[in-house]
Amino acid sequence: MAASQKQPVTGAGPFNGILTWVDQRLPLMQLWREHLSEYYAPKNFNFWYYFGSLAMVVLVLQIVTGIFLTMHYKPDAALAFASVEYIMRDVPGGWLIRYMHSTGASAFFVVVYLHMLRGLMYGSYQKPRELIWIFGMVIYLCLMAEAFFGYLLPWGQMSFWGAQVIINLFDALPLIGPDLSLWIRGDYVVSDATLNRFFAFHVIAIPLVLVGLVAAHIMALHEVGSNNPDGVEIKANKDPQTGHPVDGIPFHPYYTVKDALGVVVFAIVFSTILFFMPEFGGYFLEYNNFIPADPLKTPSHIAPVWYFTPYYSILRAATDDFMWALAVGVIAFVALIVLTATNKTLKMGAVAAGAVTLVAFFAIEAKVWGVLLMGAATLIFFILPWLDQSPVKSIRYKGVLFRTALTIFIIDFIVLGYFGTQPVTTAGTLISQIATLVYFAFFALMPWYSKMDKTRPEPQRVTL
Ligand code: HEM
Repeated sequence: MAASQKQPVTGAGPFNGILTWVDQRLPLMQLWREHLSEYYAPKNFNFWYYFGSLAMVVLVLQIVTGIFLTMHYKPDAALAFASVEYIMRDVPGGWLIRYMHSTGASAFFVVVYLHMLRGLMYGSYQKPRELIWIFGMVIYLCLMAEAFFGYLLPWGQMSFWGAQVIINLFDALPLIGPDLSLWIRGDYVVSDATLNRFFAFHVIAIPLVLVGLVAAHIMALHEVGSNNPDGVEIKANKDPQTGHPVDGIPFHPYYTVKDALGVVVFAIVFSTILFFMPEFGGYFLEYNNFIPADPLKTPSHIAPVWYFTPYYSILRAATDDFMWALAVGVIAFVALIVLTATNKTLKMGAVAAGAVTLVAFFAIEAKVWGVLLMGAATLIFFILPWLDQSPVKSIRYKGVLFRTALTIFIIDFIVLGYFGTQPVTTAGTLISQIATLVYFAFFALMPWYSKMDKTRPEPQRVTL
């Protein structure tokens, strides 16, 4: 349609003329209507639905504070640590910006973990929202990379040794390992070259990708519509007169106001931590990181920041003895498939894959398995939509099996996280090993327990 034939913006206001002018050239109002004022969201959103919008708020906060930090930070191994101290002590308001950014990093993971938990509880990954979940998972991986690259920048002891330990993990991979870790570092040790490339990734490459992915995440969400605590598809029941879902309300103003309340509560909690305990007992900012990086002095205890520690525990759980426990787990899993599957090809495939895995357990070092298990622990979330065989989405209508499995998984994740922050002990390693088996069992057994579970039928309409 020609620009002059376009519908004018309705509703009087001081900017109506400008808006009409812009709208005839760029469909701003159409965007507003499609994604806000005429985007119908289920009317039963609850507490758990705050975290998507909060994640967006934290993303903006990190980008804005990051821009100001970049104005004073020096990505140079000889100057980086001092430039952060300069920001903290001499730049007006610098301490505030730096603490907002460091607290924001942890807040991001708190918000995203709660957002993911909501997805697990209400089956938001199930059909037709698989792609929203996959975009979410790619966002999560990018977020981990962003946090890892950013943590090197202050060039403290933990920055240096944390990066050293994690990059050295790649060394363990067969064939390509040593060359790969050299390529990542750009040097034989973590050095100025590493700092420079991590800076480039942290300030521009990954944030750009993140913003694009979040846009794709929301577009995919608005295509199929939001899930809700009842798991009812509201688009299936539309008012014949208006064409709008009977259980839906326009996102704006209803949810913009609700989300604004969430932002206010979040801001209060965030400010309390920011002003009264920015280090959060060494969990948000580790004490060792207030000491400049010293390549000649390894700290006695190296642990990543709390949001990585569940995976760090899984990495450390892989001892030689643990390979036997894993072997028993794989044999039991293959036996389960052989006994219950009806498809012959699947049975044969499982036996073959199991046999190859068993050989690999003892042919490849336990250390390498630690790296592989850590990678698998994050990537396994991708296939969740295909593991869950339940006919209903929400935990409200799922049975005791799924509820118990999810509760155990949440406790297990916290236990792994806790032991990942602690120095290695015999008891700690044993608990981490059991927790690692439980972690993978939650996913591996899901096709069975989600199918056997006694579910209740979902209601026709949402409940309030
Ligand atoms: C920067 C990080 C992220 C941002 C800004 C973000 C943003 C959002 C927003 C605004 C919504 C709609 C509001 C809501 O349902 O709460 C949403 C929905 C959703 N997100 Fe995310 N998200 C992020 C990360 C993730 C991750 C890591 C996952 C999972 C792996 C994920 C999975 C989902 C799912 C499944 C939905 C649909 C939920 C439903 O309809 O019940 N998101 N996201």
